[in-house]
Amino acid sequence: MKVLIATDKPFAKVAVDGIRKEIEAAGYELALLEKYTEKAQLLDAVKDANAIIIRSDIIDAEVLDAAKELKIVVRAGAGYDNVDLNAATAHNVCVMNTPGQNANAVAELALGLMVYAVRNFYNGTSGTELMGKKLGIHAYGNVGRNVARIAKGFGMEVYAYDAFCPKEVIEKDGVKALSSAEELYKTCNVISLHIPATAETKNSINYALLKDTPKGAVLVNTARKEVINEDELIKLMDERADFKYVSDIMPAAHAKFEELFAERYFSTPKKMGAQTAEANINAGIAAAKQIVGYLKDGIDKFKVN
Ligand code: 3PG
Repeated sequence: MKVLIATDKPFAKVAVDGIRKEIEAAGYELALLEKYTEKAQLLDAVKDANAIIIRSDIIDAEVLDAAKELKIVVRAGAGYDNVDLNAATAHNVCVMNTPGQNANAVAELALGLMVYAVRNFYNGTSGTELMGKKLGIHAYGNVGRNVARIAKGFGMEVYAYDAFCPKEVIEKDGVKALSSAEELYKTCNVISLHIPATAETKNSINYALLKDTPKGAVLVNTARKEVINEDELIKLMDERADFKYVSDIMPAAHAKFEELFAERYFSTPKKMGAQTAEANINAGIAAAKQIVGYLKDGIDKFKVN
């Protein structure tokens, strides 16, 4: 069996070494395609792969057509909006993610972005503190929970809204559960996004939701750029000189945000949330184990299609 790691944004070497150990211990072979620049390289590399480990790499129908021997794709991470699930199912390919494995890394970055924003991007001027401020966690999944845990250490008042997570689960963590996104955005000084990109959430962070945020509000996005209605965020930031946006996923309109809002907008050049040795090891080795478990014993606990 051949397992391919196909990562445009490579794992730390220590994680690749750990994945190799798992794969070779199972008697399988490991192939590596990193930092590829052309889709053709991916199409070529998947030809004889029985399993693929990816990150935000796009697995569409064309890739699945080229991967004639493929049985399983594991997205080493949380969001699998980069995989065409219907096409995978049609090709009889199992798709999994590795939920929770990189959550702490993303949560730490979210808090780092918050500090950066409230300290005016370290420009030497007087900012504000996070202590005592209201933090709104939009979706209380693995990352949201870690954000809550760390934010409490900062002395923030933590609120959350999640359309699917029961209130009792949220409140057990000492977090105030609100009943709507509108209420969350009206209440909180800092909003941290942790919703996946789905047909329902795309463009859902819009002017109507953001317009009632308190003065000096900060929006932190370590989720996906697609959930933001960028035109409406630009309109809001145009009207509200007090509003800041910090993101770990470069908006499509990055150049415009930079030009218009240089003092209160920041984006990492490449998604950095899960880019730690620890997260790479956790998610990478979990992916390798899930592949071995599936190919040897048919275990499909984390199957998403
Ligand atoms: C995820 O969905 O797990 C995060 O967005 C991390 O994505 P990455 O593996 O591309 O850094």
